[in-house]
Amino acid sequence: MLAVLFWTACSSPVANTPVSIIPAPAKMEVLNGSFTLNPSTKLVLKDEGNFSNEVEFLQITLEHALGSQISEEGNGSELELIFDSQIQPAGAYQLDVSSDKVALKAGDPTGMFYAIETLRQLLPADLEGDQTSTEIFIPTVKIEDQPTLGWRGMHLDVSRHFFSIEYLHRYVDLLALYKMNKFHLHLTDDQGWRIEIKNYPELTEKSAWRTFNNQDSVCMEKAVEDPRFNFEQKHLREVDGQTQYGGFYTQEELRELVAYAQSRHIEIIPEIDMPGHMMAAIQVYPELACTNSAGWGKVFSTPLCPGKEGVYTFVENVLTEVMDIFPSKYVHIGADEVEKSTWENSQECKNLMAAEGIEDVEELQTYFVERVTDFLKSKGKEVIVWDDALNSGIDSTLHVMYWRSWAAAVPEKIAANGNPMILVPGNPLYFSRLDAKMYPIYHMPLYGPKFPVEKANLIQGMQAALWSETVPSETLADAIIFPKMLALAERAWSTPEVHDWESFKVRLQTHLKRLDALGVKYSYEVTKELIPFMNVDTEKEQIGIMLDSELSNPEIHYTLDGSVPTMESPKYEDEFFVQGSALVTAAVFEDGKALEPFMTRQVDYHKAIGKAVTYHKPWNGAYPAGDAGTMTDGLRGGDAHHDGKWQGFTNDLDVTIDMGEEQEVNSFSATFMQLSGPGILMPGAVEVSLSLDGENFHQVLSIENDIPKEKKELLFKEFAGSLAGEKARFIHVKAINSQRAFIFTDEIVIN
Ligand code: ACM
Repeated sequence: MLAVLFWTACSSPVANTPVSIIPAPAKMEVLNGSFTLNPSTKLVLKDEGNFSNEVEFLQITLEHALGSQISEEGNGSELELIFDSQIQPAGAYQLDVSSDKVALKAGDPTGMFYAIETLRQLLPADLEGDQTSTEIFIPTVKIEDQPTLGWRGMHLDVSRHFFSIEYLHRYVDLLALYKMNKFHLHLTDDQGWRIEIKNYPELTEKSAWRTFNNQDSVCMEKAVEDPRFNFEQKHLREVDGQTQYGGFYTQEELRELVAYAQSRHIEIIPEIDMPGHMMAAIQVYPELACTNSAGWGKVFSTPLCPGKEGVYTFVENVLTEVMDIFPSKYVHIGADEVEKSTWENSQECKNLMAAEGIEDVEELQTYFVERVTDFLKSKGKEVIVWDDALNSGIDSTLHVMYWRSWAAAVPEKIAANGNPMILVPGNPLYFSRLDAKMYPIYHMPLYGPKFPVEKANLIQGMQAALWSETVPSETLADAIIFPKMLALAERAWSTPEVHDWESFKVRLQTHLKRLDALGVKYSYEVTKELIPFMNVDTEKEQIGIMLDSELSNPEIHYTLDGSVPTMESPKYEDEFFVQGSALVTAAVFEDGKALEPFMTRQVDYHKAIGKAVTYHKPWNGAYPAGDAGTMTDGLRGGDAHHDGKWQGFTNDLDVTIDMGEEQEVNSFSATFMQLSGPGILMPGAVEVSLSLDGENFHQVLSIENDIPKEKKELLFKEFAGSLAGEKARFIHVKAINSQRAFIFTDEIVIN
């Protein structure tokens, strides 16, 4: 009310909210005036009967802000909803606010819905809460907008920890506010079965509940410092004096959720993860496993047994009920992280393989995926799998979710196989951590520069995932998702031309108020960390370095010799280039002082860049970095061994670089990492041999390790030496894994 008094006191009312739309519209003109919305505003429907659901949503939205709905009998200025088939494509809309009229136009209900969500963002943020106002000044604007990507998704894992059905409704509301259109619901996993299946009631009677597991213990430890890691009482129950954790959704609850999401133009995609990640079902029906028991393999749980017919009966019965609840175009069947050792020893699998001419267990996985896919397709569904399924071989009709950003060239492989794909790269789109940064979500590349441009049409869109292993509460989920999701929403919806990180950060401030009013327990701490991006230019023989930050227009100074930057050091304005080697050190400055943490990165443009490397022994499949090109790609790693730049080996590193022609070589160096916690140790020695013909080598260097394995902290050692200007074409490098650990290096530098 105060706001109303204040604004009506002005002779010419101005809108009492800055225009601050996320995601940014394709075209927007902010004019100088306002429309006054009040309970007598007249609703004018020129919708040809197309927008009844959207009119209902408009009324809910207005009632929340104004305290009452508006009516077609109103005698005030007009708010019009217009159907205009010229407005294309689907989801596009126009919104014109002038001082005497608001006009929302769209060619389909989805577009009209988005027009209303944009109008909602022109209302004051605090009206999202309990407050109402009977006189609202809406800034005059002209907006033309449309979605860029067709898949703008969020995922939620409700298996590892359970989220109430009310929370899912609110999740849908928040997705819709930011024009997201896909909600991927990960309903089942090893740690809990969350969907009622009438044919198999024990799935939820037994496997929706558990005594505390090792993931819960992690939460309990963290809860000591941060109460958001506490369990919610509503998901705990006592049975025979024992505390159990869990919960599930009834079919009726899920149907209501689906209908609610549909009214907000969101498709819910159910995931029943199989044949791995099925322990919750196998605990109830052990005969679904080849071993007739639930258990763990080396890394993942015992999967369904593809050699047993009964497994297909079970899967088809479950999916039949799932399809009956979820009318979505897609069903997600996971197909990730399958431990196949129980298949190798199974007589049923051997029989099936012999009968079907299946060569190995990878092909058996393909058989399973194809069989389930055929079933779903026969019911008119399209099928989604995680990218690991590609390793065993899949056909090009499956939709693939790319998640393993630490594996080499996955999007390229999906594209080569011809599958439509959804980008969910773990880095940066797994929102599992509180301290993850927002900037990379806004515009870190989601695939490498070698992705073929002509295959871009295979990219359906992008999605972020919230895996809930250590997320036991709604407040923590809120804190992890928000406001990061807004960065994703803008990236997925808006055209690249309107992407603007600086503008986004400013608009975000208004949205934090909106989220506050909505009761969203977001977490937003602006990091002062600098984020480096590197471009290796083999034509100009240099490496371009760009630095980015979450701060608005930060002052950055850098040095190239490893020294601490000062105000006198070069100021970072735009990309700068390194020819040869440099130890780049950069920092943000405020009031003339450098802020921690500094960014330090070794950069080397060296003679071996782009040269072919032959591997005599393989890298470890979990840490391929950039595959066979990674040792000579000029890209150095940071502090994290999983940052996609460090290649890991569990045998010796044993490679030969072909320099392409005979030339003088002066020096060798390779940096190794030690982090004894996860078992990453130094090689015992690094040996370098040279050859002119690739056959006759002679050793020129043997560099011993001097870092004891007892050192617990993160350490780097450069194994380096002189090659004495010798002539060579082939350089053989062997790092001896004498401690039988993981060894990691990021680059072999030859000068
Ligand atoms: C996954 O994170 N296992 C898809």
